[in-house]
Amino acid sequence: MAYGGYSDYLKLGWQPNKQTHLIAEFQIIPAKGKTLAQAAQATAAESSIGTWTSLSTMQGRVLKKLQAKAFFINKSGKVKIAYPTELFEPNNIPQILSDIAGNIFGMKEIDALRFEDFSIPNSYANTFPGPKYGVEGVRKIAGTTKTRRPHLGTIVKPKVGLTPKEGAKVAYDSWVGGLDLVKDDENLTSHPFSRFEERLSKMLEAKDKAQEETGSPKIYCPNITAPAHTMLKRAELAQDMGSNCIMIDILTAGFSGVQFIRHQNFKMLIHAHRAMHAAITRNKQHGISMLALSKMARMAGCDQLHIGAIFGKMEGEKKEVLQIHDAINKKWANLKPVFSVASGGLSPLQVPDVMRAFGNDVIIQAGGGVHGHPQGTVAGAKAMCQAAEAAKKKISLKEYAKTRQELSEAIKKWGK
Ligand code: 3PG
Ligand code: 3PG
Ligand code: MG
Repeated sequence: MAYGGYSDYLKLGWQPNKQTHLIAEFQIIPAKGKTLAQAAQATAAESSIGTWTSLSTMQGRVLKKLQAKAFFINKSGKVKIAYPTELFEPNNIPQILSDIAGNIFGMKEIDALRFEDFSIPNSYANTFPGPKYGVEGVRKIAGTTKTRRPHLGTIVKPKVGLTPKEGAKVAYDSWVGGLDLVKDDENLTSHPFSRFEERLSKMLEAKDKAQEETGSPKIYCPNITAPAHTMLKRAELAQDMGSNCIMIDILTAGFSGVQFIRHQNFKMLIHAHRAMHAAITRNKQHGISMLALSKMARMAGCDQLHIGAIFGKMEGEKKEVLQIHDAINKKWANLKPVFSVASGGLSPLQVPDVMRAFGNDVIIQAGGGVHGHPQGTVAGAKAMCQAAEAAKKKISLKEYAKTRQELSEAIKKWGK
């Protein structure tokens, strides 16, 4: 017998077992002339084992075992679909995406579809490595296990263009000014004027010097983003040269690239930049939420992840950013928590707001807000540290700046 097409996949009111199912939450606008139920069943079918028509090759046992079921819909377009975990290959993010975030975005049954969130059984979550270091491991590297303070960092600016020697000077100034972390920008990889190998070597030299002089551990995030074979070479070199971190643009490189690098089990933490995410996440009616991508980044093994800065230059509502912050920090199977990174358009002036919103487990980064300081990078770094101290002591920046010239200059330039 031929089993029905899309209609087999609608089971409203049915209750899935969370120990055996991935449950995905979608927001759907059905196409004109279609009901939400029709759109939901089409989504469940196409994202699991079905297609547009009944099949002579579909066997009852296959349908029973593997079909997804749209079990919940409501008036505002929310749809919940349950997928048996047998559909998903262990430790394979690209495959999950090909299922529940694949063909369905282009179906004519829908006008718009947003993949909002998902939950998975712990047994399936544990097929993924998760972060090697996580928040505690990163704190150990940075020497902040006891103080529990937020980490402060910067991105060398201009984004691209400085020579390795010039970049290393900027990095050195940032570290001696008091910052914990210096990173390459997302679009800096290897260029005729800044070869990856040479930059890495100069940066690590500057890091050693700054560590010696300040007595504090420092982190440099070299951006290894490239085709996988090149990322591997760059990561191996970074490890050989004693780097404690590598950085990947996880969406442009793709989850396969991230999983490949995590699989090497390097002794370096993975700093994840999310450049391009907004092409996927920004439209609130269509695409994939940053929340869902962030959970996958945790599964794949990123130790530090850009999730939005709330008070900076990029979109990202407070509520959404804090929901992501919570999701990548809360207990989840054996997957370690990820260190949230707030970056993009920040200066010392927003440090207290960021700390109030995120708490202590956050890496606060400023590029322009450090190197744009009227007195230069060292002063910019100091102003960031002063802002964090003020916030910790619950003293207003204005008050704290009375006896701190760097902070005072920052307020003059960036204060309203
Ligand atoms: C940048 O590169 O300017 C920012 O990191 C982008 O910020 P985001 O964290 O919002 O992507
Ligand atoms: C980043 O990659 O996080 C950014 O380049 C942030 O830069 P900005 O602080 O100058 O916006
Ligand atoms: Mg950047």
